[in-house]
Order: sequence, then C-alpha cells, then structure tokens
Amino acid sequence: MKILLFGKQGQLGWELHRSLQGLGQVLAYDYPEIDFTVPSSLRRLVEDTRPQIVINAAAYTEVDKSESEAERAKLTNAEAPALLAEISRGLGAAFIHFSTDYVFDGKKGIPYTETDAPQPLNVYGQTKLEGERAVLQLDGNNLIFRTAWVYSMRRDSFVSKVLSWADSQHEMRIVEDQVSNPTWARALAEITAQILAKAGPDPLRWLAERRGLYHLAGWGFTSRLEWAKAILQNNSNQACQVVQRVFPARSAEFPTSAARPLFSALDCGKFERTFAVRLPDWELALSLAMETG
Ligand SMILES: NC(=O)c1ccc[n+]([C@@H]2O[C@H](COP(=O)([O-])OP(=O)(O)OC[C@H]3O[C@@H](n4cnc5c(N)ncnc54)[C@H](OP(=O)(O)O)[C@@H]3O)[C@@H](O)[C@H]2O)c1
Repeated sequence: MKILLFGKQGQLGWELHRSLQGLGQVLAYDYPEIDFTVPSSLRRLVEDTRPQIVINAAAYTEVDKSESEAERAKLTNAEAPALLAEISRGLGAAFIHFSTDYVFDGKKGIPYTETDAPQPLNVYGQTKLEGERAVLQLDGNNLIFRTAWVYSMRRDSFVSKVLSWADSQHEMRIVEDQVSNPTWARALAEITAQILAKAGPDPLRWLAERRGLYHLAGWGFTSRLEWAKAILQNNSNQACQVVQRVFPARSAEFPTSAARPLFSALDCGKFERTFAVRLPDWELALSLAMETG
C-alpha cells in the first residue's frame, strides 16, 4: 500500500508518520516543501506519486490569526482538501481528512453527532466546514474525521502552556465554560493506522464501504479547567511547579480575535460502532502521554 501523508511535522502528522510505518510505503510532506496555497504543485506531487491512500493532516490551525488571514485559511483548509479529494478520486485512491469541533456553535449542551447542523463561530471553523463539504460533495472514497482539542508532547499545545504557566505563576485562572474532548495526537494517529490495518486485502473497497463523516476524539469530555488540573496532577516535574491555586474563569474574561464555541464535545459513537474500535478515555490518554512524552 502506498500512502501519501501531508502535514508530517504537525502534532497529528508527526504521529501518523510513525504509526503508519508497517502498513506500506509512506511518503510524507509538509510546509514549506509543499504549500497548500499553491494548488499546481500539490496536483503534480499527488499525480506523480500515484498513492492508494492520501492522508491530510495539514491545516492552517491558527484560530485567532485566521480572522485576519482568511484567504490563507480558506486556501489551506477548504480549497486544498477539495483538490486532494478530486485528485484522489481521479486516481482511484482513498482520501482521509481531518476536521474540527469548531464547525459547531457550542450551544447544543450535549455532545454533537454527525447529523447535527454545523454553525461555525469563527473563520477557522468556517473554512474547515467548507473543506468538509467540498470533499463530501465530490462523493469519492473519502473519510472525514472531525476531532477536537488535539495535543502532543512535542509541539506547543494547551498541555505545554499549562505546564509552563505552572512553572512561572503562583495562581492560574483557567476557563471552565469551554468544554470538549481532549485528544492525544498519538492516540488519534494510532486509531487511524489501526483502521487501515483492519482493512484487509482490499483496503480501498473496505474503506469505500465505510466512507463519510465521523467524530473521532478522546473518549469523554471535560472543561479546560478540569483538563488543566489533570495536567498538573500528571506532571512528573512537580518540583518545578510554583503554582499554588487554580481558579475558574469565564471565556468572556479573555477576549480573543476569534470567538470559540463553549460546548463543542463530540459524540464518537458512530466511529466506534462502524470500525469496532474502542477510543481511549481522555484522562487515561493524558496520563500515558505525560508519562511517555
Ligand atoms: N489542534 C487542535 O486542537 C485541533 C482541534 C480539532 C481539529 N484539528 C484538526 O486536526 C488536524 C491536525 O491538526 P494539528 O493540531 O496536528 O495541526 P498542526 O500541529 O498545526 O499541524 C498542521 C501542519 O500543517 C502545516 N501547514 C500549515 N499551512 C500549510 C500550507 N499552506 N501548506 C502545507 N502545509 C501547511 C503546518 O506547517 P507549519 O507548522 O509550518 O505551519 C503543520 O505542520 C487538522 O485538520 C486540524 O484542523 C486540530
């Protein structure tokens, strides 16, 4: 199986690059080697490579900067995935793409399923939604996995921010009104690799039978405040922690350029049922991530 992976230096892409080894030949690229805002180079690369599976973990993920960089966000998050899906269909390849809980407005109050209507509150979420719709509309062998609150131990994330605040501030204020599913990039990558491993001797047919949109994130959901407390509890370097108290705060106290959904937790039941896999609980995944790095 020849797999073409984009975003190999990102949180998820880096883990995918590791997890996919053993499934076949993996050719992996990232910015600036390949630039999603330059469609001609993308087409040439995919057509020359002729993969059976294209996996896109690249995206413009700067949520606040997307407000002023809307064109860049649209090209990267909407137009490039649409082009990848179109080229993949032309080659008879499967296309696996990732999207976000930020396609929702966060007003539902219970976890979102795939049939809930998206209503993004910011440019990032809007461009990711446009990407999803363009890919699904092409009706090829496409799988879209919407995920949430992705972190890894090797790039800046909420986990690294909390650890650095804890080493430098006696008191921390963390929002308690934002709720979603913390998702360890390694667990997400391993589950993606697992389903490809399950696909058997005719992976393209197996994937085509299951094509569509799925929610795929850490099992369970929590607030940023509870997540931060769990990060502090799992910190193996407690000796350096100077923080003594963690206070709850409201999102309105920390204005940002992009509005964020408050309750954007994802219900991942459809993924579990379809692919017969159990997603790791977010707390267990966090302790493993912080133990293994
Ligand atoms: N992070 C989250 O909390 C989160 C939540 C929900 C969904 N997701 C989705 O999950 C997927 C993986 O996210 P992630 O956290 O792994 O993202 P990430 O760490 O930001 O990685 C994205 C990768 O895409 C690259 N990239 C950016 N602009 C590009 C361009 N014009 N052309 C080619 N590559 C470009 C980035 O390169 P540079 O670093 O050089 O810019 C980076 O290596 C994305 O689809 C994202 O939308 C993420």
